[in-house]
Amino acid sequence: MSFQNLPLKPFSVVEPSKHLPTHRRNPVNDEEIVGLENESEKIIQYLIRGTHEIDVVPIVGMGGQGETTIARKVYNNGSIVDHFDVQAWCIISQSYNRRDLLQEIFSQVTGKEDKGDKEDILADELKKRLTGNRYLIVLDDMWDGKAWDDLRFSFPDVGNRSIIVITTRLEEVAKQVKHHIDPCSLPFLTPNESLKLLQIKVFQQESCPPSLQDVSEAVAERCKGLPLVIVLVAGIIKRNKMEASWWHEVKNSLVSYHGESEGYSLSTMQLSYDNLPDHLRPCLLYMAMFPDDSRIPVLN
Ligand SMILES: Nc1ncnc2c1ncn2[C@@H]1O[C@H](COP(=O)(O)OP(=O)(O)O)[C@@H](O)[C@H]1O
Ligand SMILES: [Mg+2]
Repeated sequence: MSFQNLPLKPFSVVEPSKHLPTHRRNPVNDEEIVGLENESEKIIQYLIRGTHEIDVVPIVGMGGQGETTIARKVYNNGSIVDHFDVQAWCIISQSYNRRDLLQEIFSQVTGKEDKGDKEDILADELKKRLTGNRYLIVLDDMWDGKAWDDLRFSFPDVGNRSIIVITTRLEEVAKQVKHHIDPCSLPFLTPNESLKLLQIKVFQQESCPPSLQDVSEAVAERCKGLPLVIVLVAGIIKRNKMEASWWHEVKNSLVSYHGESEGYSLSTMQLSYDNLPDHLRPCLLYMAMFPDDSRIPVLN
């Protein structure tokens, strides 16, 4: 089955057996998300109306294309929150520790702190706690099918439409983890969506002064439909956002890269770093010590 031809079949509602605490991680303001409406709606419909058996929904796209963003949008959607008894969000990333992942999911599912249990005991406890509940678990940013093998034992299948959403940059991981439905491949933003996102990020609204309209369209086009590139470029432009000469300068720096899109994000990150004021560069490097996508407590 693919997301393009999803049947909208009627479904019977399974009464949740009990309600466990649901953690709403990473709240996101949907108004800030540009595009992705069709994709998120299809995923939401599938999560609610898909197979009875446990299913895995892989979301695949390159770094910075918005896998985490769409997964968050779905995760926080009201119908989804109402539909599932328990939800948990777990960041996998390139290097992970199985016990930490199990503990993270376990704490979100039960609301309990770490008691120091060994990983196999935790895996078993998690399975027990999930049994009888309709659960939604997001495993964000998976780089390796082994991470799925490390966790899957803890996700029981009791035929109640529980779902695991897995985001990944790698097609082969998406294919490896898929069950009933083909991976959802994210589209690039259209030129119009790119312009909208750029203007929102620079001017906090979906418009710009008429004198900057042409150059903002040209800059948006050079972002190649990659949201991360747009966000980074907007950050650079913001410093002198009212000066057309600055927009042109940024546009010209963007044209110099002709490689594949993944490298384009990296070279834009370099441009963004080079344009940081001196005192902020060490701050950014300091942040690089923390794992990808992790929450950084203000105290640190
Ligand atoms: N459709 C979108 N609309 C607005 N911002 C987006 C969109 N997709 C991604 N972003 C922004 O782009 C950046 C990268 O997105 P993210 O979801 O973290 O990418 P990925 O998980 O694919 O690496 C984030 O700052 C995010 O807020
Ligand atoms: Mg991500």
